[in-house]
Amino acid sequence: MMGRRLRANTALWSGLVMCGAALTGLVASGLPNTAPTAAGPAASARQDAGEPCPPGMEARLSDPGLPGLVPEGGELTPDQAAAYEEKLRKALEPLRSQDIAPPREVPVVVHVIQAEDGEGRVSDERVRDQIETLNTAYGGRFATGPQTTDTGFRFTLSEITRTADDTWFHRFNDHRTTIRSHLHQGGPETLNLYTADLGPGLLGFSSFPQDYAADPEQDGVVVAHDTLPGGGRERFDLGHTATHEVGHWLGLFHTFQNGCTTPGDYVDDTPYEREAATGCPEGRDTCRTRRGRDPVDNFMNYSDDACMTTFTSGQAERMAQHWAAFRGGDPRALTMTGAAAE
Ligand code: ARG
Ligand code: ZN
Ligand code: CA
Repeated sequence: MMGRRLRANTALWSGLVMCGAALTGLVASGLPNTAPTAAGPAASARQDAGEPCPPGMEARLSDPGLPGLVPEGGELTPDQAAAYEEKLRKALEPLRSQDIAPPREVPVVVHVIQAEDGEGRVSDERVRDQIETLNTAYGGRFATGPQTTDTGFRFTLSEITRTADDTWFHRFNDHRTTIRSHLHQGGPETLNLYTADLGPGLLGFSSFPQDYAADPEQDGVVVAHDTLPGGGRERFDLGHTATHEVGHWLGLFHTFQNGCTTPGDYVDDTPYEREAATGCPEGRDTCRTRRGRDPVDNFMNYSDDACMTTFTSGQAERMAQHWAAFRGGDPRALTMTGAAAE
């Protein structure tokens, strides 16, 4: 499918930020910016913010005007994370433990948005490499050390759609609501993966499974086109932006969610971490009174792609729970629990 689109409605991208300037939240959450420094882009953004944020209070961006789109491109407040957790617990109540298993085939529809001159045209081969990278990552085959987990999740490419439109490509964020309602396919079990130009400071963003019921068409993952394997994005072109965003799509928070403060990322076997990692700070330990070094090699951190190698078994279990609660099971069960519908 190849279409040319006209200008569409502009969705407001309003930022409400604590501990720092508006742009800081976006850059720090999206990672690299245009002018990398030795310390790395996220680190320099953090310094510019002045006052360091207290634990669990990193600069954040939220989007209060757009229900269902709150966490995109930003970080969750402790309250937002707790609200997602509450919905998960409610939705799991009627399920039995044997219902909680990851799917062997998650269908993936990839929507390539490109400029009219061909910029951002991701080849079919690169799309297939991305799916392969997801399968390698979720199969636990990037890790070399003892820490390696096959999450059980596997992904199958079902379709590639192609759209050439300068506005949609260059200003995806402003038009994301329109774009996704035009292109979204399938139900809660289908991964819609969009590629476009997201600007210099943002690698990708995702919706959470809890948001599906209220806004099915907006469900999915968006990544910068050059983050796919071999895409040319410096330090971020091994395809792990998609790995990371799909982790959110399956319900995971960042490993540094809530900083050193309980309940952290709501996963028992990921050590606490005060703030996002940049580069590959192997051996870092930012929560000294908490057990374990920072999970800098975890896909749900902000490290360089080359440094990200693993999910933990706790994360695998949590993804399977979200799958069962919001994406997998009997659609009737979903309606009955009323998950995410409030
Ligand atoms: N924008 C992403 C997020 O906040 C950044 C993580 C991508 N990191 C990477 N190494 N590819 O969800
Ligand atoms: Zn993230
Ligand atoms: Ca943890």
